Amino acid sequence: MGGRPGDAAAHALPEGQEMRIIDALLGEHGAFYAIFDHLERDVPGMHEAAAIRAAGATLGAALATHAAIENEVLFPELERRVGPDGPLAVMRHEHDQIEDGLARLARCGDTAAARGLLLGTLATAREHFAKEENILFPLAAQLLEQEMERLGDLWAERRGVVVRPRGVHACAQGGAC
Ligand SMILES: [Fe+2]
Ligand SMILES: [Fe+2]
Repeated sequence: MGGRPGDAAAHALPEGQEMRIIDALLGEHGAFYAIFDHLERDVPGMHEAAAIRAAGATLGAALATHAAIENEVLFPELERRVGPDGPLAVMRHEHDQIEDGLARLARCGDTAAARGLLLGTLATAREHFAKEENILFPLAAQLLEQEMERLGDLWAERRGVVVRPRGVHACAQGGAC
């Protein structure tokens, strides 16, 4: 299957550095791969359009929040450096393609067509993730080196989680050991 994370060394976290936004987004890709695997295994055996639509709606809800963080937090910073064309235009277009595929699925009453729409959208999403991991995230690491941790904080804010700097234990911040 395509779309697996590429060279892990390309995403290595330097000693003493806080979490970078691309590490967070890569982690989200990893969770999505488990969902993609599950759907690719189960959807061919599903025989009701409504069940396929429901699976697509659940996937779409999660993918929408991931794409929104990229569109609104990471991509604008990169666009300031490289402009809106090139890889960023491709990434935004693919976000639209994935959203459009899932919107068409939501209106689809035919089982075979619904199956094709969901599996086709999954294939598009895998290719898109692979491009981000192999091209866009390394580009961001290079061009936004000084912004990575601030953008990582924005990611955490959007996700409603708290990320501690490396080496800081929970008890040092008043938490339980
Ligand atoms: Fe994306
Ligand atoms: Fe992504």
